[in-house]
Amino acid sequence: MALAEETKRIAAQFEYTDEDVNKGVQEFLRQMNEGLQHDGTSMSQIPTYVTGVPNGTEKGLYLAVDLGGTNFRVCSIHLNGDTTFNLTYSKIAIPKELMVAEQASDLFGFLAKQIELFLRTHHEDHFAAHVRRRQTVSTPEGYRDEQIFRLGFTFSFPVRQVGINKGTLMRWTKGFDIPDAVGKDVCALLQQEIDRLHLPVKVAALVNDTVGTLMARSYTSPGKTSTLLGAIFGTGTNGAYVEKITNIKKPVEGDYDKTTGLMVINTEWGSFDNQLNVLPNTSYDIELDQKSVNPGIQIFEKRVSGMFLGEIVRLVVVDMLKNPAISLFKDENSSHNDWKSTTTIGEGSGIFQQWGLDSSLMSIAAADSTPDQSSLRQELEKQLNIYAASLEDAQAFRTVANAVGRRAARLSAVALGAVVLQSGKLQEASDEPIDIGVDGSLVEHYPFFRDMIYEALAAVDGIGPDGAKRIRIGIAKDGSGVGAALIALVAANMEKKGVV
Ligand code: GLC
Repeated sequence: MALAEETKRIAAQFEYTDEDVNKGVQEFLRQMNEGLQHDGTSMSQIPTYVTGVPNGTEKGLYLAVDLGGTNFRVCSIHLNGDTTFNLTYSKIAIPKELMVAEQASDLFGFLAKQIELFLRTHHEDHFAAHVRRRQTVSTPEGYRDEQIFRLGFTFSFPVRQVGINKGTLMRWTKGFDIPDAVGKDVCALLQQEIDRLHLPVKVAALVNDTVGTLMARSYTSPGKTSTLLGAIFGTGTNGAYVEKITNIKKPVEGDYDKTTGLMVINTEWGSFDNQLNVLPNTSYDIELDQKSVNPGIQIFEKRVSGMFLGEIVRLVVVDMLKNPAISLFKDENSSHNDWKSTTTIGEGSGIFQQWGLDSSLMSIAAADSTPDQSSLRQELEKQLNIYAASLEDAQAFRTVANAVGRRAARLSAVALGAVVLQSGKLQEASDEPIDIGVDGSLVEHYPFFRDMIYEALAAVDGIGPDGAKRIRIGIAKDGSGVGAALIALVAANMEKKGVV
């Protein structure tokens, strides 16, 4: 069979029809509500103690740090109070060995050190004044009360939150694995290391990146509309949305502001349908899961987010390569090769290594609509040492990658659609947009990701084309930094009011 036809047949396994989308939405709603009833469900539905979203008038200078993907970011944010902000940040790749360190203090000590470096570089005056004060006051309590930075800690892993700046780590995701930290309060772990370095910083708020995204979008969103949902489609995927407190049936311990009747819920939808009631499950999905550090969990995430999509494509390609009847990246194609002579897969090619195919290559494939697929072919060389791929090879690769990417976008629509339906906002007689803030490499860089989401949303019963038009999905750039600052501000206000 010709390569193009074989590829089509394989790619068809990733089709996710409108009917599948609808089934997915129903099950998503069921699992969301189950998670609001009690603990121990596959979607954790974690109460965040954040009881309102900002409106753009908030002001002040805050610190924020962000741990949760491949990089650690430290930022200071000046909220100007007019929906704008100024942000200074530094970013550093997290050394791989710290992601699987023996002791929690190895990782958290490193983070505190980065905070110190940031303060010395960007807030030298403040820092020097603090050092002077510290020399004249002998006890930590003495300088604690002095002018200190409030810090919002964006920690993007499942945490059982028990207060605005307190929460224990439930499990690691996205390739992190430091068993020593599981069950511990991650704010306390960070504060200990900050105190060890005598930094003028108080960890004031614990924030999931999705909550940060929700807050940031709400602060900046056009027309001061309050935002319903913040979602990440990056290394991992997850969403946090505004829920009515009356719908939260499981106990919410600790203190929080009860006046709004609302609370932001961190869904941890990466673990939607771990039991595989409705999610698609190709042999490639099964293999990816079995070889991951956390088999059986984050099953939705493993079909949707950037960390995994490249790996799915890689497994498909390897399967095709191993099949003698399929001519992908094999020499017989070079007879009609219009570029170079012989297709070779260079030594050390990522194609044969787990995680060796970065999802960014899928973006390049999706974006390359040139007749000769030249940028994709160049990139296959650069990223995977696949030399002289023929046009047919590149097209086949593109077909596979696009099928995996499209399924991811349509699955994403399941999550967004279910949250919109759960909110009941479409029933409200209003033409206000239903605002959703999104962030992450996939939604930012994968071509047409949002368009594919909209297409699937229009097919959801109860939303339809008109409903889909009311849904406004906007990028919340720097969401986790600004959002964390906004929550640090909420925490400071709660402290002033004596709530915590
Ligand atoms: C993973 C984490 C979740 C986070 C998401 C996006 O799913 O468990 O907490 O929000 O990745 O970074």
